[in-house]
Amino acid sequence: MAGYLEGKNIAITGAGNGIGRATALAAAAEGANVLVADYGVEMDGSDPTSDVADAVVAEITEAGGTALAIAGDVSKMEVGKQIVSTCIDTWGSVDGVVCVAGNLREKMLFNMSEDEWDAVIAVHLKGHFTLYRHALAAMRKQETGGAIVGFTSGAFQGSTAQANYSAAKGGIVSLTKSTALTAASLMMRGGGKPPISANCIAPVARTRMSENVPFGIDMGVAEDVAPMALYLLSDAARHINGQIYTANGPHIAVWSQPVEIRTMDAPNGRWTPQEIEAALPDQLGIEKLTFIEALEQRMAEMEAKKAEEEAAGEGS
Ligand SMILES: NC(=O)c1ccc[n+]([C@@H]2O[C@H](COP(=O)([O-])OP(=O)(O)OC[C@H]3O[C@@H](n4cnc5c(N)ncnc54)[C@H](O)[C@@H]3O)[C@@H](O)[C@H]2O)c1
Repeated sequence: MAGYLEGKNIAITGAGNGIGRATALAAAAEGANVLVADYGVEMDGSDPTSDVADAVVAEITEAGGTALAIAGDVSKMEVGKQIVSTCIDTWGSVDGVVCVAGNLREKMLFNMSEDEWDAVIAVHLKGHFTLYRHALAAMRKQETGGAIVGFTSGAFQGSTAQANYSAAKGGIVSLTKSTALTAASLMMRGGGKPPISANCIAPVARTRMSENVPFGIDMGVAEDVAPMALYLLSDAARHINGQIYTANGPHIAVWSQPVEIRTMDAPNGRWTPQEIEAALPDQLGIEKLTFIEALEQRMAEMEAKKAEEEAAGEGS
């Protein structure tokens, strides 16, 4: 029986570890030719090695699949170009790219250095741009189009210790929507061709990156995330565009698309600050940051648990 991605040529960044590796192994097992792109670095960006990408290629070939390794830094334009052109030169097309490479430099914003900011924006946001840009240029020339899959995070809504990561992940959402819009406009002009999709996944999985996640969040494993990426890479999902999907263990969810929810218009053509002060609380209201709601709920749960434990301690 043909595999779910039989004959597709797919490039996956960050494919040497965690979610990228699980996606590469699953795609190859479903018949895709997989370009394993990974710089092979430690979490702090040090000690790049080609061994990490090579090891995943060896795993795939030993299992009877087809794979190639590129051990470059995805924040470099020439590496994005090389990944896409190697797929085309070796296998004839690039049918999908999945951007999973990532790093972390955790600091509260008021303590964050410029280097810590730049390093995270480079690997995540620019590392998506270098791939999206070259993949889209190639896919628009292919009759069969292609699928682009980014990796964001629920942290795009905000983060106390990872403002750099949160900003990069928000940027990836916007970049993915821009790519989806561009793809849709190409398809409109081309009567439905070439079919190109761009979507992103907000995963939650136990990997080296999530080792330090606080609180007892329920987490699946990297292999639970891979099927969602494979679905988005398939022809069956090519009509889906600009979406964000959570994938965590058995749980998959779709995020809303933000829209204006209440408006107000100046009574005399232009608002004064005083008029805004008087009108805004009633007419627009203030939307609560969803993360603050979650944090409040979590703290209430922790306090209730503590009170229960204390009460049990007193009773014994
Ligand atoms: N694990 C989670 O719970 C979680 C949650 C939200 C988002 N994510 C996102 O999912 C993606 C994968 O995360 P993971 O947990 O599998 O991480 P991971 O650390 O296990 O793997 C990341 C891989 O990226 C590679 N990499 C780092 N810098 C690179 C560079 N400049 N060029 C090429 N490769 C580079 C590393 O060598 C590593 O193999 C990341 O984008 C991450 O932000 C993960």
